[in-house]
Amino acid sequence: MPKQMTAAVLEAPTASNVAEGKSTPQFTLSDNVEIIDPRAGEVRVRVKHCGICHSDLSVADGVFPVDQPIILGHEAAGIVDAVGLGITHLAPGDPVVLTPAAPCGDCYYCQRDEHSLCVDSLSLMTHALPSGDTGLSRDGSPVLRGVGVAAFAEYAITTAHGAVKIPADVPLEVACVIGCAMQTGAGAVFNIARLEPGATALIMGLGGVGLAAVQGAVIAGASSVIVSDPIAGRRELARSFGATHLLDPEHDDVLTSVREITGGIGVDYAFETAGVGALLQLGHDAIRNGGALVCVGAPPLDAQFNIDPVALFVTSQKRILGCLLGGSNSPHEIPRLIGLWRTGRLQLEQMITARRPLSDIGAAFDDLRQGVGVRTVLNL
Ligand SMILES: NC(=O)c1ccc[n+]([C@@H]2O[C@H](COP(=O)([O-])OP(=O)(O)OC[C@H]3O[C@@H](n4cnc5c(N)ncnc54)[C@H](O)[C@@H]3O)[C@@H](O)[C@H]2O)c1
Ligand SMILES: [Zn+2]
Ligand SMILES: [Zn+2]
Repeated sequence: MPKQMTAAVLEAPTASNVAEGKSTPQFTLSDNVEIIDPRAGEVRVRVKHCGICHSDLSVADGVFPVDQPIILGHEAAGIVDAVGLGITHLAPGDPVVLTPAAPCGDCYYCQRDEHSLCVDSLSLMTHALPSGDTGLSRDGSPVLRGVGVAAFAEYAITTAHGAVKIPADVPLEVACVIGCAMQTGAGAVFNIARLEPGATALIMGLGGVGLAAVQGAVIAGASSVIVSDPIAGRRELARSFGATHLLDPEHDDVLTSVREITGGIGVDYAFETAGVGALLQLGHDAIRNGGALVCVGAPPLDAQFNIDPVALFVTSQKRILGCLLGGSNSPHEIPRLIGLWRTGRLQLEQMITARRPLSDIGAAFDDLRQGVGVRTVLNL
């Protein structure tokens, strides 16, 4: 039987709220959202915890325009509630981390181990399951399944590899941050940059994603991890994770500092993890010839940056690398990250600075908007 559940439904982006004099996104706590039973190849999960990522905020604030009503939330962990036909690797009661870009396992890209290019990741844009519908409705009308999971809700529905089983002793309340922040930030280092021991890195933006990239760079053996963020507390957290040089972009000239630190050469890898278009240019300038700029942040749709195509082949040979969810193959990446956490090399607990009930979602979004703490996790 379909289930009736409570969910935080975004009814309109903040831009329109501002016009009406409201400060927070217009979420309605609806107790009459219906979620279907899982069909063949689908899994329904009782969501327990869901972190808030800047990508949710960008949708809520209308930076990335989407239709409404929509349920956001894509950094979640929970317990399998029901499985559809053909699902043999998961059973009701299994603890799982949900993943926003579930690989199908079969397509051209999955066959090439390029899972973040999987055809099913298109469902991130359509706000539906790969089958074409969302599996969610209210009063008979569809509700969109936002950012590939729709986990600001008691239940979420996903595909076979969209829920990855984790060992029973991993606390769900910390495992949730693996779903987006860790897969994206650490994955950007491991899978996209493939940073080698001794390399130098610049990480611009120290939210959940950037701090995960810092941790990934330290684990991968970077010799210098230069970080930049205007928020002092986040810089200090980065230091505790192993960052070697802390820059405040409001007071330091980041490019000059990077050149000084690297003996005038530039870093091997720069990671844009703030979602600020101008930082793409800065990162491109800050890498050495032959270095790579990894574009992790999601800047506004009109962001642009300039590259000199002649320099690309004459002198610089710089590389610009796109990055969706850290290029992660989630069924492989999530257990790997848990292994690193278990051995004390990846810090998950320290990434979570507040916990709130779902009913506090508006205030939790305000925290992220104002850079208060790092990750706020909503309990469901
Ligand atoms: N590629 C992906 O698959 C993917 C996945 C998750 C998130 N994202 C994107 O990554 C970005 C970061 O997400 P988050 O949740 O960590 O966000 P966040 O808001 O928690 O952190 C962003 C950080 O950038 C800092 N910042 C702002 N301007 C800066 C500047 N000029 N120089 C240096 N730092 C600056 C802010 O102070 C903040 O600490 C967002 O754009 C988000 O949409 C992309
Ligand atoms: Zn995210
Ligand atoms: Zn695929």
